[in-house]
Amino acid sequence: METATTVDMLRARVQFWRRGNQRIAFVPTMGNLHAGHLRLVERARELAERVVVSAFVNPLQFGPNEDLDRYPRTLEADRKALDNLGVDLFFVPGVEEMYPHGLELATRVQVPGLGERLCGAFRPGHFEGVATVVAKLFNMVQPHTALFGRKDYQQLVVIRRMVADLDWPIDIEAVDTVREPDGLAMSSRNQYLDAAERKQAPRLYQALQQLAGRIRAGEGDFAALGREAMEVLAAAGFSPEYVEVLDADSLEAPAEGRPLVVLAAARLGKTRLIDNLVVDPLSG
Ligand code: PAJ
Repeated sequence: METATTVDMLRARVQFWRRGNQRIAFVPTMGNLHAGHLRLVERARELAERVVVSAFVNPLQFGPNEDLDRYPRTLEADRKALDNLGVDLFFVPGVEEMYPHGLELATRVQVPGLGERLCGAFRPGHFEGVATVVAKLFNMVQPHTALFGRKDYQQLVVIRRMVADLDWPIDIEAVDTVREPDGLAMSSRNQYLDAAERKQAPRLYQALQQLAGRIRAGEGDFAALGREAMEVLAAAGFSPEYVEVLDADSLEAPAEGRPLVVLAAARLGKTRLIDNLVVDPLSG
């Protein structure tokens, strides 16, 4: 596996493949790879002749009081894991390579509305940072397909909207959430949990499963269900930010007979956890 640290190195390699009519799949990450990330890479390997993975902890998507400085960085272990999976190119740019004019003056990509609700309401500017860096990475890698996890469900929907709005010929492939044996969605941020919090953390997914069960049983007052789930989480020691039931494709208000998604964000001590569950109300 080759490693590229500059856009020029990346472009040279990618253009060579494109000239050979090879299909390129791309998995953007912030590194500190776990089994969730690796599932995306395995799927990418199935979809294309060439797989590019990036690892870049993007300062633009972190708020001023967030965990940018302590976000775990494990490049050597990441490199080994990707090499084992047959990845062709690992792109690891520095902040200066990505934002040569500085963060303040960087041109931004915004997805209004969609990017300002749910997590966007609690993390102002977050999805602008995500859309901006993913737009840049797409222009650098020029993939045929890019893969994103359902774990970050709103991010997936924001990226799909951006790609549609900007007319990029890129297929966005969604991959299901990989979980720990007790149901907790895998995340780099799980490392911040202390032992007691780690034991409590699966309650978030349990609350979503319970809520989904009630929807399947026919309950239809989604606002009340969301409020109750927030109370359950608060009683379990979380500080819930939101629990909402929305249309699974658009994240707009639910429409009769369409697939739904239950989305939640909650703090447990200093750690912010998110999770979600797609519910087909017709599946029984
Ligand atoms: P990061 O949190 O590193 O996640 C990279 C990709 O892995 C995302 O598509 C995310 O949804 C997926 N992922 C994370 N945990 C997962 C799990 N448990 N199961 C399945 N997929 C999982 O998301 C980002 O980085 C950044 O915002 C990025 C898109 C790279 C832009 O900076």
